[in-house]
Order: sequence, then structure tokens, then C-alpha cells
Amino acid sequence: MKSNFNIQLSLDSKTKNNLYQEALKVRSHAYAPYSGYHVGASVLWSNGHITTGVNVENASYGATVCAERNAIFSGIAQTPDLKIKAICVVTDQANPWPPCGLCRQVIAEFALSDCLIILGNTQLLAQEIAFKDLFPMAFEPKHLKA
Ligand code: THU
Repeated sequence: MKSNFNIQLSLDSKTKNNLYQEALKVRSHAYAPYSGYHVGASVLWSNGHITTGVNVENASYGATVCAERNAIFSGIAQTPDLKIKAICVVTDQANPWPPCGLCRQVIAEFALSDCLIILGNTQLLAQEIAFKDLFPMAFEPKHLKA
């Protein structure tokens, strides 16, 4: 695995590589007959576990669920009350794919304050960014409290 990160955020390189390999591994399971874009995602949780997901499309295109959300929902089903330390998204596209708006809102619900977003393709880990920089001023659970 090559890496062209220019900054090192909070995770060690072995953990990042594990996350990348898990996302890469599941990417081929994506169900994307309409867009043709196969996406794999992995989530590192606050207990150290990793869960994965792929994008799942259907004939009503708008009801598609992205790889990131499926990876998050799978983690919640396995162990509730955890927080997200990092998420890795892998495609086969030259430009890294950041989580879409819907996924950002779901990530905001469960992210630790230093949550890291790692973006890669099948050749390399291309970019990393702090979630709070990717999605500043998120609408969060705290806003619902009086
Ligand atoms: N998709 C993801 O799974 N994750 C992203 O970060 C962006 C987009 C999926 C949704 C759809 O199945 C396909 O990629 C094209 O938008």
C-alpha cells in the first residue's frame, strides 16, 4: 500500500493500514448495478473494533445507502453506545471520494471530537482529514438539548 499523506493525524500507521485493508476487502461486494461505482468503507470504533459496509443500490435510485452508513449501522447493530474514531472510504477512482452529505450527518451523530476521515482508492491511501474540518458546525445531538 502506498500512501501520500502529507499530515499525520491521531491514528498510527498500522491502524490506518488495517482500516484501509478492511475497506478494500469488502469493496468488491458492493451492489451497484446502476451507478457502477463500487465503494467500501470501514469504521474504527472506540472499543477498537472495525465494522465494514458497501454501497447498496436498488431500482429506486434515491433509496441507495452509501458504504459509510452501512458500515456505521452494522457497528451499531453489533455493539451499541460506541463512538467513531475513524472512517476509511475506498473506491477505484483517481480522486478520493469524501462522504456525502447524508453520511456526514450520520457520522456527526456518532463521531468522537477527533474523528478522522481517511480516503483511498485501490492503489493508495490518498488523503486524510479531521471530520470536524470536513463538516464544520454540524447539527448534533447537543443542539436538541434545552
Ligand atoms: N457512494 C458511497 O457509497 N459513498 C460515498 O462516499 C459517495 C457515494 C455511493 C452511492 C452510490 O451507490 C454510488 O456511490 C454513486 O453515487
